[in-house]
Amino acid sequence: MKDRPTVLITGASHGLGLALARLLIEKRRYRLVLTARPSSLFRFGELGIFEDPDLMLTPLDVVDPLSRETAIHNVTVRFGGVDVLINNAGVMTRAVLEHVTEEDHLEQMRVNYRGPMELTRLVLPYMRAQRYGRIINISSVGGMMAMPTMTVYSASKFALEGASEALFYEVRPWNIRVTLVQPGFINSDGFERVAYTGRSFQGHEDARSPYHAHYHYMEAFVAKIMRRTWATPESVAARITRLIEQKRPPLRVSGTVDAFLFSMLRRLLPRTLYHEVLYRALPGVSQWGRTPPDARAERE
Ligand SMILES: NC(=O)c1ccc[n+]([C@@H]2O[C@H](COP(=O)([O-])OP(=O)(O)OC[C@H]3O[C@@H](n4cnc5c(N)ncnc54)[C@H](OP(=O)(O)O)[C@@H]3O)[C@@H](O)[C@H]2O)c1
Repeated sequence: MKDRPTVLITGASHGLGLALARLLIEKRRYRLVLTARPSSLFRFGELGIFEDPDLMLTPLDVVDPLSRETAIHNVTVRFGGVDVLINNAGVMTRAVLEHVTEEDHLEQMRVNYRGPMELTRLVLPYMRAQRYGRIINISSVGGMMAMPTMTVYSASKFALEGASEALFYEVRPWNIRVTLVQPGFINSDGFERVAYTGRSFQGHEDARSPYHAHYHYMEAFVAKIMRRTWATPESVAARITRLIEQKRPPLRVSGTVDAFLFSMLRRLLPRTLYHEVLYRALPGVSQWGRTPPDARAERE
């Protein structure tokens, strides 16, 4: 590892990004660049996190090209460049495909996939020139096993996984390592921060919607597991800090124990059996599609 490498974290104002920021501040081994959307930057002050010679706080909206370029330019001027990029910022959209407009779809892809890839493109020339770099992309179990009501979220994380896998081979000759961290359920307020599209919100609220049962059962299921799981933002953050210091970090890392178990299930079961088992295990699935007659209007 480089002496005092510069680590940039996206979406450091909340959740996993914030837990990671706090852990790295404590370690005092890095130059840190904590970034947040301009509207969330004030949170650092509220949390008692202030600039110092080794800590830079800077606005960065990962979907905005000018914001991305300005942030990387400012880091380069101050610290020379980014040695470790942690693409953490993300949004989870809860919606079935019929409740997603083209714009909803693009917005999800911009935050979870395109933003991280564009930022990576901006830091690679510096990493190649110095023959050292670490790209850590926070994926999800949703990037390995897709679940209903998470269509576009899964698509964005599958895209992130595919591109990161290709990049892993492309940049390894320069000692640049790409790692995907796949957290499963984390005990946090993440389920309250889920984004709905206009139509998925209606489907969630309206018992006459053909997809109401999908939302109703999946939401309760996810909330229950997130409340009961042992994994916390801090435990996942600790896993990520170990990766930064690892000489040869692997391409994929489970961020939580459940993620590891899900990956084994996916790997070991024959595909058709896996999909059948998963379908039957979906919460309340026997109720799905049992739509009251007056929901016909929405279907038509
Ligand atoms: N929580 C889980 O159970 C879980 C499971 C698997 C994977 N993950 C992944 O872990 C990562 C962190 O999730 P989390 O649970 O910590 O979520 P979170 O608490 O909602 O935090 C997400 C962070 O991303 C930021 N963000 C959102 N859109 C952004 C944008 N356009 N530009 C810059 N920052 C943006 C948010 O900023 P604001 O405060 O401004 O909104 C926030 O700081 C995500 O990639 C997520 O997909 C989470």
